[in-house]
Amino acid sequence: MTEFPKDFLWGGATAANQLEGAYDVDGRGLSIDDVIPGGKDRMKIVQSPDFDWTPNAKYTYPNHEGIDFYHHYQEDIGLFAEMGFKTYRFSIAWSRIFPQGDETQPNEKGLAFYDAVIDECLKYDIEPVITLSHYELPLHLAEAYGGWKNKDLIGFFKHYAETVIDRFGDKVKYWLTFNEINSAAGFPFMSQGMISKTGADDKKNVFQAWHNQFVASAYAVQAAHAKNPACQVGNMIIFATNYAFDSDPKNQLAALKFNQGFNFYCADVQVRGEYPAYSESLYEMYGFTGADLDRTPEELALLKQYHVDFLSFSYYMSGVTDVTGKVDEKTQGNMLGGVKNPFLKESEWGWQIDPTGLRIGLNQLHDRYQVPLFIVENGLGAKDTVEADGKIYDDYRIDYLRSHVEAIRGAIADGVPVMGYTPWGCIDLVSASTGEMSKRYGFIYVDLDDEGHGTLARSKKKSFAWYKQVIATNGEDL
Ligand code: BG6
Repeated sequence: MTEFPKDFLWGGATAANQLEGAYDVDGRGLSIDDVIPGGKDRMKIVQSPDFDWTPNAKYTYPNHEGIDFYHHYQEDIGLFAEMGFKTYRFSIAWSRIFPQGDETQPNEKGLAFYDAVIDECLKYDIEPVITLSHYELPLHLAEAYGGWKNKDLIGFFKHYAETVIDRFGDKVKYWLTFNEINSAAGFPFMSQGMISKTGADDKKNVFQAWHNQFVASAYAVQAAHAKNPACQVGNMIIFATNYAFDSDPKNQLAALKFNQGFNFYCADVQVRGEYPAYSESLYEMYGFTGADLDRTPEELALLKQYHVDFLSFSYYMSGVTDVTGKVDEKTQGNMLGGVKNPFLKESEWGWQIDPTGLRIGLNQLHDRYQVPLFIVENGLGAKDTVEADGKIYDDYRIDYLRSHVEAIRGAIADGVPVMGYTPWGCIDLVSASTGEMSKRYGFIYVDLDDEGHGTLARSKKKSFAWYKQVIATNGEDL
C-alpha cells in the first residue's frame, strides 16, 4: 500500500468570518460578510440589482456570533490537538487588523488575538496555515472604493499582508493569499467585494479585480520571502474536476474551455507568473480585450518574479459540461452548478460526490504546474442528529472522507506531490453559501441552530475518533 509522506500535514480548516463571531469586539471593523444575510437565499439577495451592503432588520447575520471561536479558541484548538492535528488552516480577519482597511496603523488588539491563536497552535506542535483573505473584505473598501476592481486596494492589501507577515512570519511558515480566488467567476461579491451597483455584472471589472488581486498576492509572496526564507506562500483556488458529458467533440471542447476559464485561469497566472495564451479568447467571449485591462509592465514583471511556492485548493465535487442539450437535470454545486452526472450520488445540498475526481484533479494540476499541492478544503456538508444517548453517529461523513483520503493515496501512488489535507469546517461553523448552521462539516459538533439558539457546547462526533486514528497511523487505518 502506498504510504503518505512522513511529514504529511493532516489537519483541518476554518475561516474567521464563519466561526470567530465577536464581530464588533476589540476594535474590529465591519466586513462584507457581516452584511450578507443568513439563509438559503443569501446568494440571490446579494446578487440582486438593489443590494447595497446596508444591514436590514428583516434579515439575520449568523456570522456576527459565528460559533464564538473568539472566546473558545483554547478549547477548540485543544480538541484539534486531541485529534492529533499536525496543522490548522485558519484565516485572519483583515478587519480585525485594519478595521476600515485603509488605515496606516494596525489595531493592536486584533494582532494580539492572532498572536494568541498561533501560540496556542504551537503549544501542541500544530503548524498554522494562514489565509490572508477569506471572503471578508473590510466593508469600507467595498463601499468607498467599489471593491477589488479599484487598484487602490493593492496598496491596502500590501500593507495589511506586510503587517501580519512581519508580525507572525517567524512563527508561521505557510501562508495562503486569496481564498478560492476563482470563485469570483460566479460570486464577485464574496471574493472581490463587488455588487451589481458597483459593477459586479460587468466581467471586465471581475477580470480587472483578479489582476489587482494577482499583484497584491505577488506582494505577499515578496513580503513572506523577505521576512523569512522558510516561509512558503500558496495561492488558493476552488477546483471542481470537470468532465465532458460524452465524447461529442462539442462537449469535449466546451469542457476544455470551462477548465481554462474557471479551474485554471487564476492558477496559471499565480503559479506560472504570466497570463496564459488563451486569455484573449476568454476576454473576447465577454466582449473586451486585454488592452482594456489596466496592467502595467511593472506589475507583469512582479507577477513573474513572485509567483507562489505551492498551489492549494478546495475540492468538494466534480462537474459535467453539456452544451448539446442532452441532459436536462441540473445540480447545485460549490458556487457553480451544472448538469447531473448519472454515475454519482449527491449530498443533501446537491453537490456531486466524486472521490475519483479528486485523484484526477490532483493529476491534472500536477501535470500542468509541477508544484507541491495542498488540499486545504474537502468535506461533506450534512445534517447531524444528536441521538438519545447524546452522541452523533456521522458514518456518512466518515465514508465521504475515507473515500477521498483513498483518492489522495491513489494520486500519491501516481507520483503527485501532496503536502497535506485539511478537511473543511473541522469544527461545525456557519455555511458560506447558505448561512446555515445545520449544514455541518465538523468532527466536533457545536450546539447552535440556524436561528442562533444553543449553548455553544462542543462535543465529539463519531468521526472525531475515526480521524484521530487516521492521523495516528499516517493514513494507514481508514
Ligand atoms: C468553500 C469556502 O467554498 O466551501 C468555504 O472556502 C465554505 O468558506 C466551504 O464554507 C463549504 O461551502 P458551504 O457553502 O457549504 O459552507
